[in-house]
Amino acid sequence: MTADPAPDRLGELLTQVLGSVGGEAPRLRDLVGGLVTHLHAFVREQRPTEAEWLRAVDFLVRTGQACTDTRNEFILLSDMLGVTSAVDEVNHTGPPMMTPSSVEGPFHAPAPPRPMGAWIAEGPERRRGEPTVVHGRVTDCDGVPVAGAVLDIWQANDTGLYDSQDPEQHDGNLRALLTTGDDGTYWFRTVKPSSYPVPTDGPVGELLRAIGRHPMRPAHIHIKIHAAGHRPLTTHLFVAGDPYLGSDAAFAVKDALIADFRPSTDPRFGMDGPFLAAEFDIRLVKEGDPR
Ligand code: BEZ
Ligand code: FE
Repeated sequence: MTADPAPDRLGELLTQVLGSVGGEAPRLRDLVGGLVTHLHAFVREQRPTEAEWLRAVDFLVRTGQACTDTRNEFILLSDMLGVTSAVDEVNHTGPPMMTPSSVEGPFHAPAPPRPMGAWIAEGPERRRGEPTVVHGRVTDCDGVPVAGAVLDIWQANDTGLYDSQDPEQHDGNLRALLTTGDDGTYWFRTVKPSSYPVPTDGPVGELLRAIGRHPMRPAHIHIKIHAAGHRPLTTHLFVAGDPYLGSDAAFAVKDALIADFRPSTDPRFGMDGPFLAAEFDIRLVKEGDPR
C-alpha cells in the first residue's frame, strides 16, 4: 500500500472539486456535490488501486453496453444493490396504515383492460399453473372505498418469464388493467406465482456470482394503482411461505405485502374446482394528506 498523501491533500482536492460545481440548478448542484463527497470518502476509505478503479469503470461500461430497448442493466444493478428500494423508501412515507410501496422492477409493460374477475393467465400458463383468485378492496386510509381505481397487474409465468421476455407467450398474458366499482372491491383469476431468478447473463449476474449472492426473487405479483384524488402506488403482493422472502435479490419485501394463498372452495368466485385464494386489501393515501 502506498503512503498517505500529504495529510490534507485529499481534503484539498475534494474542496477544489466541490468549488467547481456550479450552474443554474441548485438541486443539481446538491446532487452532484453529494455524490462527489461520497465518492471521495469511498476512495479515502477503500484506497482502490488504479487497476481496481479501471476494472470498476470497465464494469460500468459493460453494464451500459448490455442495455437494449427491452433490457436495462443499470436499473437491475440499482435493484440488486438495494438502491432502488432505498429511493422508494425515502419517497413513499405516509400514514402507518397505508399499503407500502415497493419497486417497479424492469418488466412493466402495457396491459390489456379486462373485466373484473377475468382470468389473466391464458394458454399453457393457465393449464400448467395452480388456479388462484386474488381479491380485496381498495380504500383510503380511513376505510372509505375508492371507486374508479385502475389496478395495473403483471406477473411472471411458472418458469419466471414475463410475456415481454418470452416469445412463447402472447403480449398481455399475465397482465391486466382492472377498474374498481363503487364498493372498491377487485378480484382476478390467475395462477399462483413462482419464485424466479433475475437475469444473470450480463455484468450484474457476474457481480452477484462474484460476491456470493443468489439471484432469486420470492414469488410475487406486481400491482400499480392510479385513482383520482389519491397518491399513485406501485407495490407487490408476495406469497407467504416462499423460501426467498428473507433474501429477495431486489430487497423489495415488506411484511405488510405478504399474503396467505389458502386452499378455498368459495362459490363466489365461480371456479370449477379447488383453488387458492389470496386476500389483499389496498389502502391508498388521499392527495393532500399531510402525514
Ligand atoms: C421484478 O420483480 O420483476 C424485478 C425487480 C427487480 C429486479 C429484477 C426483477
Ligand atoms: Fe417481478
